[in-house]
Amino acid sequence: MFNIENRRYVGNKFKLMNWIQSTMDQECPNCDSIFDVFAGTGAVSRCLLDRYNSFIINDFLYSNEAIYRGFFENSKYSKNKINELKTKYNSLDLNQNTYSNYVSNNYGNKFFSLHDALIIGYIRQDIEDLYTSNQLSSKEYYILLASLLYSADRIANTVGHYDAYIKNKLIRGGFVFDLISPLNVKNKKIQIFRKDSNELAKHIKCDIAFIDPPYNSRQYSRFYHVLETITKWDNPELYGTAMKPKEENMSEYCKSSAPKAFEDLIKSISAKYIVVTYNNTYSSKSSSSQNKITFEQIKQILDERGQTKLFEKPYRFFNAGKTDFSDHKEFLFITKVGQQ
Ligand SMILES: C[S@@+](CC[C@H](N)C(=O)[O-])C[C@H]1O[C@@H](n2cnc3c(N)ncnc32)[C@H](O)[C@@H]1O
Repeated sequence: MFNIENRRYVGNKFKLMNWIQSTMDQECPNCDSIFDVFAGTGAVSRCLLDRYNSFIINDFLYSNEAIYRGFFENSKYSKNKINELKTKYNSLDLNQNTYSNYVSNNYGNKFFSLHDALIIGYIRQDIEDLYTSNQLSSKEYYILLASLLYSADRIANTVGHYDAYIKNKLIRGGFVFDLISPLNVKNKKIQIFRKDSNELAKHIKCDIAFIDPPYNSRQYSRFYHVLETITKWDNPELYGTAMKPKEENMSEYCKSSAPKAFEDLIKSISAKYIVVTYNNTYSSKSSSSQNKITFEQIKQILDERGQTKLFEKPYRFFNAGKTDFSDHKEFLFITKVGQQ
């Protein structure tokens, strides 16, 4: 079974959560609600599930939204039905002539072996057909869809994201349909959104706003386009070697407009505490991993909203060998809103 953190996702904070959680426990007392503004994998909300009663979980990617609905949505589902479908999906015997589909035609022998691509496309269509003919509840639909995304991601022929597939290599394949393990959200209030963060923030009131935006030019919608296309299932035309669809959800945070976007966001947040994560990849030699917002800009923008404290943790991470690891740190800014 997959837990929420069992996926490869650039910039996910799962490994930092002990540190983040204990710092927040100490600095943000008496809080009940948290807004995970750029939720990514959802691992931050998942790790804080015992701490608060109300969660607002947001990201503009379709695949992330589907995954949150599978893990967090507070509604009933039939375990039997899900398990029966798992058994069915793991005993499929498909031949290429009869069952070729969108996934096999576009991603076969590229991001997946041809046989795995046939199976992934078949399962995706089956989930859609069952849902549109009212044989699945919304929760069941998203559990199955999230399970398909995790299962496909596990065997994808990539370096962890879908900007490119690995060429000139025999794709081993070995797709197995495994289920996600939905979270126990009894007595929790969970709201899930797929919105632009700056737009959504204008309408949300919460105790803690947790802010973990992208800080460099690498667009998440391009990195995870295969998962987006499988989720949306609207058969877009694809371009280039990496078979990407037309651009969608290009983040202002990955462009030179990032400082302005960040400032607008921070100004519109209605919360007791604003928690912001940041790491100092700014000195990196690779231009795509250079930060679009500087440490000083973050500090200055947060200072406008209240007393801001800074916490830091040495943190080593992988960056294609281009960067000197020695002084990389992860920072946590915590602003007590309204206190100067
Ligand atoms: C650094 S990741 C967040 C990682 C997350 N905290 C985790 O632990 O998995 C940043 C996320 O922001 C999302 N994003 C970028 N710009 C956005 C925007 N304008 N509105 C909503 N989400 C956005 C990306 O899709 C990505 O998932």
